[in-house]
Amino acid sequence: MTTYVAPSILSADFSKMAEELKVIENSNADWIHIDVMDGHFVPNLTFGPPIIKSFRPHSKMVFDVHLMIEQPERWLEEYKKAGADRITFHIEACNHSHRYLAAIKEMGIASGITLNPQTPLCAIENVIEECDQVLIMTVNPGFGGQKLIEPIIDKIRSLKAMIKEKKLRTLIQVDGGINADNAKKVVEAGADILVMGSAFFNSTDKKSLVSTIQAL
Ligand code: DX5
Ligand code: ZN
Repeated sequence: MTTYVAPSILSADFSKMAEELKVIENSNADWIHIDVMDGHFVPNLTFGPPIIKSFRPHSKMVFDVHLMIEQPERWLEEYKKAGADRITFHIEACNHSHRYLAAIKEMGIASGITLNPQTPLCAIENVIEECDQVLIMTVNPGFGGQKLIEPIIDKIRSLKAMIKEKKLRTLIQVDGGINADNAKKVVEAGADILVMGSAFFNSTDKKSLVSTIQAL
């Protein structure tokens, strides 16, 4: 199976988003990763549904929306209406993740759950059947440009084993500090989708970065 690349627009130039969305499309990346931060669940603040809606006419690519917000259940419908094709929320942000994963699927889009570095994998053991993707945070969420936390690579391996044991088709996504140097390591551990913010936007040859990772 090939590896998917999902550039994160958190590292894009916000003053020219229509152009930045084209830059992602021209790189032949697979999805666009959109980081939603509420200033509460994480210290940083980014954008909400109206801004995502304004991106939609400028791109036909898959919008992979990563909600770093409290009470994500209140907003699922709004993000779907804004143009999300996939919605991932944090297990640490709610008590009834199984219900909300099912709600996302009922809306006809892909569901995802994510775990902060401190959250053990057993937290999702009983809800993983409802997930199209599980996002393993390889940094503490909130900011781009951080360094990948190495011990988390073992968590990717354990998640891969859990998916295999349960005979599921759940995709494993990784996010935070991913670059050309560590991509192979996370793919070997089991990652299917690599989110890349700063490494993508700082790259002078985005096409070759993307195709190298897709071939891993
Ligand atoms: C961090 C976000 C990431 C971020 C990744 O909280 O969830 O998606 O954009 O950026 P890099 O790749 O620079 O770590
Ligand atoms: Zn993200």
